[in-house]
Amino acid sequence: MSDTYSPGLEGVVAGETAISTVETGLTYRGYAIEDLAANSTYEEVAYLILYGELPKAQEAAAFRERLGRTAVVPKEIIETLRHIPKDAPSMDVLRSAVSLLAHWDPETAVGTHEANVRKTERLLAQVPVIVAARQRLKTGQEPVPADPKLTLPANLLWMLRGQKPSEKGVQAMDVSLILYAEHEFNASTFSARCVVSTLSDLHSGITAAIGALKGPLHGGANEAAMKVLEEVGTPDRAESWTRAAFARKEKIMGFGHRVYKDGDPRAVYLKKLTTAVAKETGNDEMERTAEIIETTVWNEKKIPPNVDWPCARLYHYFGLPQDLYTPLFVVARVVGWSAHIIEQLDHNRIMRPRAIYKGPAVRKWKPVSAR
Ligand code: CMC
Repeated sequence: MSDTYSPGLEGVVAGETAISTVETGLTYRGYAIEDLAANSTYEEVAYLILYGELPKAQEAAAFRERLGRTAVVPKEIIETLRHIPKDAPSMDVLRSAVSLLAHWDPETAVGTHEANVRKTERLLAQVPVIVAARQRLKTGQEPVPADPKLTLPANLLWMLRGQKPSEKGVQAMDVSLILYAEHEFNASTFSARCVVSTLSDLHSGITAAIGALKGPLHGGANEAAMKVLEEVGTPDRAESWTRAAFARKEKIMGFGHRVYKDGDPRAVYLKKLTTAVAKETGNDEMERTAEIIETTVWNEKKIPPNVDWPCARLYHYFGLPQDLYTPLFVVARVVGWSAHIIEQLDHNRIMRPRAIYKGPAVRKWKPVSAR
């Protein structure tokens, strides 16, 4: 057995991919995320990630039509959402609901490339419906059906609020979803690839990925980052709070990254938008608090923020409930995970690493009386 061991698989190459890379900033299928965020829409980017090329006008229209048509979930699932305890975290509920969707999908057990693409499109449209329906049900409101004419980000806001969303709100949602859509071999994507490498199905892979994303070291960091800002409260407390957290050897959520040591390009891009939205929505004080925390973390540890740091504030400024922040990450990432699942299955070999054994040497079984 090879003696190379890297805790947390740091630096380990675990596969090949043509979907995205973090080698030269972050690119999806060769396009820089800054270029996509400035010029594209989430739906175009989802198409790009899934099919490998930006859609031509007709392809985009057909994709839009399919997403609109499939943005419904079985009434039995909505009924189940009603009965899940109201205090169950939204991420847990979403994980269960995606698992339930598999029972109604006509192609759950069909593992061909084409069937997995069709299942991806259906999930892409259904996940926002579940996120919004659960949010409304737990706040005592009835779900609002999807409007097939609206784009995915606009529809999400419409189904959450039952009001026509503002253009600015839709644009900001579009950008955040683009930046969250795909990210190479992160923990949740790797989980999804592991699951389907056994020739399990796409819904199982996505369910596992949601479970992995939920942790605060991964996607759960956007909700955890908001808790930091709430706990700090005002700019005058920001520096001393941060120093005290370091003294307690705590990590500050929303900072650091396994690969990006000089800065997460998604965070750099999103910060400008978040600061602009803060101004427009009268949230300058929280921006100042965030800025002081950022400067203190940098001065003390030379650790830059990751995408979850500005994104948490962006969602907060648009009045979105805190426990929806990570489910919104799921809405965006379903397409990235699915593209990886499809790529894994197109060139599959089961994932089966080894471990360095640290347990007792071989020993003889003893009867109870001799233990
Ligand atoms: N606050 C304080 N110190 C930190 C932080 C942080 N957020 N992140 C890393 N460090 C320190 C860490 O304590 C360690 O110091 P030392 O060498 O003195 O022990 C050093 O930096 C290296 O950190 P690490 O934990 O070995 O790094 P890692 O590559 O294993 O972990 C990480 C990466 C993202 C899990 C980690 O930086 C972290 O826990 N960050 C906070 C959670 C977070 O924001 N996660 C979101 C990640 S990006 C988007 C996403 O995936 O959703």
